[in-house]
Amino acid sequence: MHKSYQYDHVNDRLAQLLSSFADDIAIVMGKQVTDKKARRSAAVYGKRDRDGFIHRSWMKSQGLPDDSFDGRPIIGLCNTWSELTPCNAHLRILAEHVKRGVWQAGGVPVEFPVSSLGETQMRPTAMLFRNLLAMDVEEALRGYAMDGVVLLGGCDKTTPGQLMGAASVDLPAIVVSSGPMLSGKFRGETIGSGTDVWRLSEAARAGEISEETFFSAEAAMSRSAGVCNTMGTASTIGSLSEALGVALPGNASIPAVDARRRTMAHEAGRRIVALVEEDKPLSTFLSRAAFENAILVHAAVGGSTNAVVHLLALAGRCGVDLQLEDFDRFSRDVPLLANLLPSGEYLMEDFDYAGGMPAIMNRIADRLRGTAPTVGGQMIGEVAASGECFNDAVIRPLDTPVQSSSGTWVLRGNLCPGGAIIKPNAATPELLTHEGPAVVFESIEDFKARVDDPDLEITEDSVMVLKQCGPKGYPGMPEVGNMPLPKKLLQAGVRDMVRLSDARMSGTAYGTVVLHISPESHLGGPLAVVQNGDRIKLDGPARSLTLLVDDAELEKRKAELSAPMAPPNSERGYVHLHVNHVEQADKGCDLDFLVGKSGATVTRESH
Ligand code: FES
Repeated sequence: MHKSYQYDHVNDRLAQLLSSFADDIAIVMGKQVTDKKARRSAAVYGKRDRDGFIHRSWMKSQGLPDDSFDGRPIIGLCNTWSELTPCNAHLRILAEHVKRGVWQAGGVPVEFPVSSLGETQMRPTAMLFRNLLAMDVEEALRGYAMDGVVLLGGCDKTTPGQLMGAASVDLPAIVVSSGPMLSGKFRGETIGSGTDVWRLSEAARAGEISEETFFSAEAAMSRSAGVCNTMGTASTIGSLSEALGVALPGNASIPAVDARRRTMAHEAGRRIVALVEEDKPLSTFLSRAAFENAILVHAAVGGSTNAVVHLLALAGRCGVDLQLEDFDRFSRDVPLLANLLPSGEYLMEDFDYAGGMPAIMNRIADRLRGTAPTVGGQMIGEVAASGECFNDAVIRPLDTPVQSSSGTWVLRGNLCPGGAIIKPNAATPELLTHEGPAVVFESIEDFKARVDDPDLEITEDSVMVLKQCGPKGYPGMPEVGNMPLPKKLLQAGVRDMVRLSDARMSGTAYGTVVLHISPESHLGGPLAVVQNGDRIKLDGPARSLTLLVDDAELEKRKAELSAPMAPPNSERGYVHLHVNHVEQADKGCDLDFLVGKSGATVTRESH
């Protein structure tokens, strides 16, 4: 409850004095003073001095009337729209609907761009720039006088980067995701983003389909704006945004071009104004309980392995103690319920019609931390209680899951003292326990040069090992961990092998692929000393990955390792900063100096 006073009774001098304490007392040009916690925008747009003149005057050049600055919430629309990020190409349309909601609720929307990371377009890998986007978002949110923000993102790295930056400023915030593109349809078959690229590509290399057929699937796969229509990284992060409580129900699954997504965006505009009024910053929602809910949901939907690094990095920004092992511990007994590619059969459009995230959460409601709040105003348990499933084939009941155990397995052993992960529901069950001889590729270039060499000594029992693809070494930790199999083995009918690396893999990919080996080979981690023929033992159920070489020999090899070459293009610029400061995968690959938060305060004026 707060009181308001007419400040006509206060002389101008006193008003100026009060305006300098705007963090405690809001002075608004509509001639009100309130003892409610001041809006940060009032400290800029409410100033009765030269600086206030400058801030308001230039904003008025856009046609904003006087009362836009009378103390109503200024809401930023942080937009990763870009034609080079096709998944986010419609976000300016969604932004217009967010603005309607903001105006309707009494706020003032201001849209601004930040860098956009097109997963399929940006080289050498969009992940190299996730932290750059996070810095961009953080400084924009702090530097501009907004009271709350709607984060418009979607394509894989955009939402994590936005959330990380926003968490370090800690204003009220809501995620509005792009939503999935329409289901792919090709020659009478449903095809899914990414997953069917890998499948059709292998079929073409194996000679099962023609090259012409392969390429004619391009347009059929990507039929509209929106993110990958499989449970890839973008849909995983969209889903986890709901589970974390920072997005409205439906955020993950409503198709990008569906009118209901525009309605959800409109509602997000109304809700962000309410969150500002209620003084609920992002940290209200991003608690340890919220991260535990996200891990549980991640397992139930069969989410992308990339979510592991993004959640670890986000937790680091929030000061939440989240460890790699938490992903295994909390997901260990969670069944895979979402029957979606790449782990199942259906696509995100089907998931939406089946009930989406509320229906999934309904099925695991007893495991969720039900009192965790959400930006929609409900507790997560209430969202789960409202969920209803309309298609048990897509969202399976607990007693007939897609798989009885899902989630992320965290491996340890002398090959990965800092940990490694594998997605068991994307793997061939028989290969999750396997021992075989290593076939080593020293770099991605070495891999590409030799993988299809008919003389390559490799069998289906071999373990494919790829080095120099970690956060520093590549740099940026690309999605190459799901190495394509050698052509001669594909032609012999082999469709999966054990593969391991310090790389990531696409959320749309599948296979018995050990990822994120830490420390990475570039830093001289044990992966660096694996040699052709070394035997490697993967024991997934025991969570171990072992290089069967005795310790003395390993030490000898380590001592003989030459100093690593500087990663490509790392002499200057952002890549230089990244290489010198990026953390390992088990810590989330944030830059070390970005962990934590600096808050929203700006202490100096620009003039
Ligand atoms: Fe953008 Fe998959 S490439 S979401």
